Amino acid sequence: MTVLAASLLAADSSWLGEAVRQADAAGVDAFHIDAMDGHFAPNIAFGPTTVKDLRALTTREFDVHLMLSHPDRFLRRYAEAGANVLTVHVEACTHVHRVLGEIRELGLQCGVALNPATPLSTLEWILQGIDRVLVMSVNPGFPGQSHISAMTQKVASLARLRDELGARFRISVDGGVGPANAAELVAAGCGILVCGSSIFGTGNLHAAVEAVRQAARG
Ligand code: DX5
Ligand code: ZN
Repeated sequence: MTVLAASLLAADSSWLGEAVRQADAAGVDAFHIDAMDGHFAPNIAFGPTTVKDLRALTTREFDVHLMLSHPDRFLRRYAEAGANVLTVHVEACTHVHRVLGEIRELGLQCGVALNPATPLSTLEWILQGIDRVLVMSVNPGFPGQSHISAMTQKVASLARLRDELGARFRISVDGGVGPANAAELVAAGCGILVCGSSIFGTGNLHAAVEAVRQAARG
């Protein structure tokens, strides 16, 4: 089944706890929580304390997307705050293989993210051991940006590579994902749809979640 992960960056931040409760009640499968340091990405967002406070509100998965220049310095703090999955950018890690190993040693699932311009070849030698690949379909920083439709081909190529290698990672897509593109992304091999504005920007979470689910069924 396709996983729908709610991206909290797109929620009104004065209402964050309520956003988690309502998205939980609307039946999202997971929460996608963006961490940004104002350096790797041109914005600042959710630290470990926020993750810890929100952790008390839901049992659903927390996938923390680390858009940080030195993600290795923060792994333990996000793990202790209650993250289930930590996703790091290949562009931010000099020793990405080591960082992924450190995430696993903390007992968490590990993911690697690629900016839109980063080729799949950067993953060639690490794909066997990872749980997730996050394909960015916008440039990191902000919710509500236009989905880069060429990323569907990137997802399809990645899914082919996965088959060739017999690897088992799940592919997630983040940026401008919603009812308009869910079907083609799923058909290309995406297993996790990260949805921000398409669900939090609508005024009716239940209906928005259902619209994505229906589109994802094709
Ligand atoms: C962008 C973030 C995304 C974003 C998604 O840097 O990684 O998670 O908040 O929001 P939408 O779905 O509105 O593009
Ligand atoms: Zn994200």
